[in-house]
Amino acid sequence: MGFSQARWFFEDGLLEPTPFEIGRIGEGGVRVAEPEEELIEAVGSLEEVIPKELIRKELKLPGLSEPEVARHFNRLAQMNYGVDSGSYWLGSCTMKYTPKLVMRVADHPSIRNLHPYAPEELAQGLLRMLHELQEMLSVITGLPNYTLQPAAGAQGELVGALMIRKRLGDLGERRDEMVIPETAHGSNFASAAMAGFKVIRVPPSSDGTIDMNALKEAISERTAGMMITNPNTLGIFEDRVLEIAEILHANGSYLYYDGANLNAIMGWVRLSDMGVDVAHLNIHKTFSAPHGGGGPGAGAVGTTDELRDYLPVPVIVKEGNKYRLSYDVPRSIGKVRTFYGNVGVLVKAWAYLKMLGSDGVRESAAIAVMNANYVRKKLMECGFDVPYGRGRPCKHEFVISLAKLRKETGVRALDFAKALIDRGLHPPTMYFPQVVQECLMIEPTESDSLRELDKYVETMREIMKTAYERPEEILNSPKNAAVTRVDDSLANKVLWLSWKVYEKQKSQEELYR
Ligand SMILES: Cc1ncc(COP(=O)(O)O)c(C=O)c1O
Repeated sequence: MGFSQARWFFEDGLLEPTPFEIGRIGEGGVRVAEPEEELIEAVGSLEEVIPKELIRKELKLPGLSEPEVARHFNRLAQMNYGVDSGSYWLGSCTMKYTPKLVMRVADHPSIRNLHPYAPEELAQGLLRMLHELQEMLSVITGLPNYTLQPAAGAQGELVGALMIRKRLGDLGERRDEMVIPETAHGSNFASAAMAGFKVIRVPPSSDGTIDMNALKEAISERTAGMMITNPNTLGIFEDRVLEIAEILHANGSYLYYDGANLNAIMGWVRLSDMGVDVAHLNIHKTFSAPHGGGGPGAGAVGTTDELRDYLPVPVIVKEGNKYRLSYDVPRSIGKVRTFYGNVGVLVKAWAYLKMLGSDGVRESAAIAVMNANYVRKKLMECGFDVPYGRGRPCKHEFVISLAKLRKETGVRALDFAKALIDRGLHPPTMYFPQVVQECLMIEPTESDSLRELDKYVETMREIMKTAYERPEEILNSPKNAAVTRVDDSLANKVLWLSWKVYEKQKSQEELYR
């Protein structure tokens, strides 16, 4: 199957313009009716109720007709790539397909039109769904108490770290260090630091799991806890997690579990059986809402009973047949998100879990793991280097290193990724985790069929071959995408966050090229 992405140009060669560029002042797709005479008689005209000098003469908003709006967004969609376009093996992000039924539930008018300020009596259905979601998460993880409020995995980590800190304060303990393995997700380090902890890093051993000797050395009377990502960012299950929990607990420290990779283990093992004190789950990845594109997420946090009273307020409680938001959480770390978090994502998770049921949850984890192992085996047979965990099965993802390819051909992981784009496949995550050189992190998820797995593997084999025979072809990709090579660091250095700023700075654009 060939691939060529739609590419829409504006007059001067720019890609699809913004509404500011094509809109016309005064134009609009919606006409608002003039106020009726009776209304003006009753309350007065605009000029009578607002002082004249405050009334604006014009409002320079660009207007478009309805067809123009529909076409604008349709063209943008054609220049985009999503889980509905094709394989999306973005490691660590679990870009599984979102079933249309899940979207329909989240888009139901009774959910979509519910105002966040609606009184509890009018939001009983939604509160019930959220309460049920918490209960389902408890069954899956074994952790009895949940908040669904954090807006992302990283915010869940911050919540968990703050809860540990407050608990230790209440116990009169002065522990200010958080131990984090180098194979943990990058956000763990930032969250621990934001919660006021000094981060102590632990390297992996040669099989990709935590180096137990280094861990024992890192732990002291100052250790508040450890944040473990399991399966870790190499896609390997930390099988000594029980021993780790015992070491920490014997030391008076807590075990924080980054459960963002739950997709690999859900329904098969419980976090409570691994000695976990507090954990977050990436609701958006695991339960089918896509993670990419900066879209809204949800980082549910679950805890043991010891830490229950530290959860953010409000919590959802059930009294008889009624549901309400309770602020009666004695040692709460406070509120962490407006209203009740990103409810749309939570509703999708509820629908997804109801749709799958117990067997489906287990099956989806099993297929995700089998798909990853199949692809890893096939790629190893094609000569791709799997630097960690070769001798054991991986979980839902794995990493390969293109260091040898770079040395021998000059083709980097970045170039390899661009070549995948040219062949109609979304590239894997690159250069993460940092313990692997020229890293590609591959997560096929459970969404792809055997045919698609084989196609992806064959495409990677072909790119590798081309890189050795005609490296310049790979170095010049992508050619078939709407957007070709971009300046990867420009957007980090130059923050044009609004149209107004862009307009002002546009003249300086050349300076940064
Ligand atoms: C293992 C792990 N932990 C934490 C996070 C952070 O989650 P978020 O991006 O929702 O903040 C991710 C993101 O995918 C992850 O893969």
